[in-house]
Amino acid sequence: MNTKGLGKAGGVLLVGLMLSGCRGTISEKPPIHPNMNMDQQPRVEAQEVNNFFEDGRAMRQPVEGTVARGFRKSDAAYYEGVDENGDWISETPVELTRALLYRGQERYNVYCTPCHGITGDGQGIIMTGQYGYVPAPTFHQDRLREAPDGEIYSAIYNGVRNMPSYAHQVPVEDRWAIVSYIRALQASQNVSEEDIANYDIDLDELKAEFSAVAEAEAEFEAAKEAQSADVEATADLGKEIITQYACGACHNVTGDPGGIGPTWKNLFGSEAEVVTEDGSRTTVTKDADYIIESTVYPEAKKTAGYENSVMVAYDYLAEHELQSIVEYIKTLSDN
Ligand code: HEC
Ligand code: HEC
Repeated sequence: MNTKGLGKAGGVLLVGLMLSGCRGTISEKPPIHPNMNMDQQPRVEAQEVNNFFEDGRAMRQPVEGTVARGFRKSDAAYYEGVDENGDWISETPVELTRALLYRGQERYNVYCTPCHGITGDGQGIIMTGQYGYVPAPTFHQDRLREAPDGEIYSAIYNGVRNMPSYAHQVPVEDRWAIVSYIRALQASQNVSEEDIANYDIDLDELKAEFSAVAEAEAEFEAAKEAQSADVEATADLGKEIITQYACGACHNVTGDPGGIGPTWKNLFGSEAEVVTEDGSRTTVTKDADYIIESTVYPEAKKTAGYENSVMVAYDYLAEHELQSIVEYIKTLSDN
């Protein structure tokens, strides 16, 4: 054998040894770790007990007042929509630009239209009935026109009563963009004739268009009423309507006083104090007329104790539907 042959044989043997070394040899010892870096050192695991601390926990809370880097939100007006006294700020703290409004429109259309509708009239897709969500109010009412910007911001940031917060979906700058866009929507739906005179718009043509719409609506209402006359009002139908419009989000039937609206248990036939629109207080008997009025025009008489809470007007319900709600509420009274 020459030396060349020896070398070859040695190579084959080495490869053989290496392969067999990897197979089947199980060891309990930690693997050889030539360069330790800082891979192994004393440390505590998450949730581990550590008796060094009084509470026995290894995981420590950050020192009180600690703020993660880049997360200091000291500007309350910008981040929360409130001033130093905690009152809602009246005006958006970001500069109003065309770009901001367009951004607001785009974000509004993504996140708010399903419930509030494309023009902010509260006629979003949830109102097609099959979804059973609490109806969202229209933005075109004095209460929300006069609400400070901070309050609109707060609806997005904190949520409001039945509306969840959208803070996770909508970052701060976009919230203000949406607030500004809602202001634009409100302005667009509440224009005086003098304002229109400043634009190149034919007022007569516009009025004709509006009266055509009003006529069509009146026809629709009349047809609905005619149809309504043929349908019998029943408690079962009432219960269905209440489920469809999610009245239960604010009214319970158990007598629990803790809801957003008053309980319906023993409501029918009861006597109670209400606050009327001009702020005076009277005592009323809660009969069918009262229940219907409270449903179609909640502002008329507000139950004492709930005068600061809000209910959307269900003025689009047909007569037989309203009567059915009354029939259902009647079944919840013991007397
Ligand atoms: C899933 C449906 C839904 C979506 C989406 C939604 N809202 Fe609402 N919103 C509601 C409902 C329901 C109410 C009424 C809550 C109540 O009175 O209990 C409401 C109320 C409001 C109010 C009135 C607050 C008040 O004081 O009465 C504002 C303002 C508002 N929403 C803004 C927004 C904005 C802005 C968005 C988009 C970022 C949005 N909402 C998305 C359902 C929704
Ligand atoms: C967003 C919450 C909310 C929803 C949803 C709601 N209500 Fe109300 N409702 C209230 C509040 C708050 C009051 C008390 C203040 C008032 O009278 O406006 C009230 C009062 C009433 C009253 C008078 C109760 C009393 O004790 O005098 C009736 C009747 C009523 N609602 C019917 C309905 C019907 C029917 C529906 C569904 C079609 C409905 N409500 C949906 C909040 C709500």
